[in-house]
Amino acid sequence: MSHARERGAQATINKKHLKHNLAQFRAMHQGPMIAVVKADAYGHGIENVVPALGAVDAYAVATIDEALQLRSLSPDKRIILLEGVFNEEELALAVDNNFDIVVHQKYQLALLNQIQKNKKLKVWLKIDTGMNRLGFDMSLSKSIIEVLKHNDLIDLHLMSHFAQSDQPISTQTQQQIRCNEWIESQGLPFSFSNTGAVLNGMSQDKEWIRVGIGLFGISPMPGTMGSDYQLKPVMNLASKVIATKNISKGQAVGYGAHFVAPHDMHLGIVGIGYADGYPWSKSESMSVMLGQNPCAVVGRVSMDMLAIDLSRHQAVEPGADVQLWGDCLPVESLAEQLGVIPYALVCGITKRVKFNVIE
Ligand SMILES: Cc1ncc(COP(=O)(O)O)c(C=O)c1O
Repeated sequence: MSHARERGAQATINKKHLKHNLAQFRAMHQGPMIAVVKADAYGHGIENVVPALGAVDAYAVATIDEALQLRSLSPDKRIILLEGVFNEEELALAVDNNFDIVVHQKYQLALLNQIQKNKKLKVWLKIDTGMNRLGFDMSLSKSIIEVLKHNDLIDLHLMSHFAQSDQPISTQTQQQIRCNEWIESQGLPFSFSNTGAVLNGMSQDKEWIRVGIGLFGISPMPGTMGSDYQLKPVMNLASKVIATKNISKGQAVGYGAHFVAPHDMHLGIVGIGYADGYPWSKSESMSVMLGQNPCAVVGRVSMDMLAIDLSRHQAVEPGADVQLWGDCLPVESLAEQLGVIPYALVCGITKRVKFNVIE
């Protein structure tokens, strides 16, 4: 146990685990693989993860700024803009930087008429098979495919997205699979599946799978952990005890005095709070790990700190390490206790958390 005096809020990114998870998906899927690294690689830090993902066939991000940052880290790999481009400037940047673009709305089809360079643009036509978010209706897709297929400046691919890939195969998923069969029959490269679809056996051999959360060792399926699928957590979020104190039965702890000590207690104050990305709500159901021992979070999480019950660990002193999630405490279980998804927890880590990479 380290006792260095520092605030200590730290996310440790384990590249070995990242490579292990990538190898797991490679073993599950024969076809090409896209690593979805939007939102700063789901909060893991894009510059921390890209060097470990050299074996993927392409990356996908949400915004042009994310794509430009990624291009500086990865000069040659395909980068797909999942929401496509919004205006002519973004289209020009996409052409200049060799980005693949998703096209999901008519205004984006119109933008394609602006391509002037004698260089083919890789386009993923997004087809809405039931998610009702982005994409052209099935009824319109056939004619759009016909037009784009014959445009010499466009290298056409097709994409759809499952709405319930984190559940056992539902009626809606069956319908989406039937639509995907039609998409596959068009004879173009295609992409349907995210992490849940791959882990739930909905993916097709030849498709370009789009894997995000699973690469980070996290399961999207409610009630399961990454370890259930032989995945390993890539992020360990930790901090340190920065103060200890004894309180008497009946004394309250923290903002709002919501927690009242049921007996005399020994408390630790940990240097992490909601401004670091640790969740604020329902603090009464959360715990942290002191080595292998769970300790309850007591009282409301503050902006920069939280209090934990050290009554069974009287010897703990400032400087002791505390894990918020990771190897000893899966982020999936904290998310489940809070009624949120693990995606929201890892994506919520803020810039003031120090990042540290294990090679
Ligand atoms: C269009 C699309 N494809 C793939 C993914 C990756 O999903 P997951 O992180 O569940 O693998 C996302 C993530 O939000 C997405 O929006």
